[in-house]
Amino acid sequence: MGYYFAKFESFGSFAPKKILTNQDLEKIVDTTDEWIRTRTGMVERHIASPEEAASDLAYQAAINAIEASKVRYKEIEMIIVATISPDHPFPSTSCIVQKKLGLKNIPAFDISAGCTGFIYACDIGRQYIENGTVNNILIIGVEVLTKITNWNDRNTCVLFGDASGACVMSRAEPSDISRIIDSKIDADGSQGEFLIQAAGGSRLPASAETVAANQHTVYMEGNRIFKNAVKSMYASSDELLRRNNLSGVDIDWIIPHQANMRIIEALAEKMRVPMSKVIVNIHKYGNTSSATIPLALDESIRSKKIRRGDIILLTSFGAGLTWGSILARY
Ligand code: UT7
Repeated sequence: MGYYFAKFESFGSFAPKKILTNQDLEKIVDTTDEWIRTRTGMVERHIASPEEAASDLAYQAAINAIEASKVRYKEIEMIIVATISPDHPFPSTSCIVQKKLGLKNIPAFDISAGCTGFIYACDIGRQYIENGTVNNILIIGVEVLTKITNWNDRNTCVLFGDASGACVMSRAEPSDISRIIDSKIDADGSQGEFLIQAAGGSRLPASAETVAANQHTVYMEGNRIFKNAVKSMYASSDELLRRNNLSGVDIDWIIPHQANMRIIEALAEKMRVPMSKVIVNIHKYGNTSSATIPLALDESIRSKKIRRGDIILLTSFGAGLTWGSILARY
């Protein structure tokens, strides 16, 4: 516990214009609208143009989040970007976003935690605010996974979309009702090979062979990940509730990672929370990895579904394997 409390000051998001429907995918691989809808809940997803990279999407979400806040650009003291589809292996996408925003002399770094990236970044960010080091942090979850998708693999290519979501996290004033109550992040590296972009790093540097073998694209053993997803998101969410003497009935909204409608429904059932309290937008965006949670939060806040003072539980699961949850009063 630090000296101060951190709060979610504002959110912003962005999705590229182009939409790819299930019917469009039927023309690309051996799949059907019916399979995709019933197995995942997805109907359409947004796809970045050849010119759009992670930092372009991140920049738009960042502007939307800052404009929705009381914080001025020059009051941002740190940038954290969660992504597994950065502009380049280095420099970090956060440094590119910093340049685009015209911000100087503040730390900027990326977090790689798969679909749990935004939760990891928020967990890290709150430490800096709670110990009094900084007052305002820009945290972004951004993904352009369609750039590293194998469009011949029906097991994965129907699942992903591109988007970004951002928040300004600020120090809560004593009079603020908003605050981050608790958070928990976790990992199990022993199962990393089930969800991986195998090549392009120092283990398998880029070569004609790695390109020919499609090793620069996402590989996923979906059903192995599925089982872990429900178990892990439930475990961390349940622990957060327990150690704060809360239960499912105290939660106004669960904002889960949007990877699969069946995972979301199984989690809600295990937590004894009705689906009417669960934020779902998977039908519109597919799985946008580290962007799903801030994107869903931004949409729900702008449509006045989520209001100041509501108790929200964010929970995610992804490559690593990683998972984690955040409990907050918005
Ligand atoms: O976001 C990060 C974490 N990721 C996740 O949490 C994803 C978790 N996993 C999932 O959401 C699901 O496992 C998937 C949606 C990826 C797959 O659903 P599933 O019910 O686990 O299907 P499966 O992989 O066990 O495949 C069932 C069948 C197979 O056919 P056979 O072998 O039974 O004949 C697949 O070949 O469905 C087939 N299949 C497809 N059929 C039509 C796989 N993909 C498709 C497709 N269209 N796109």
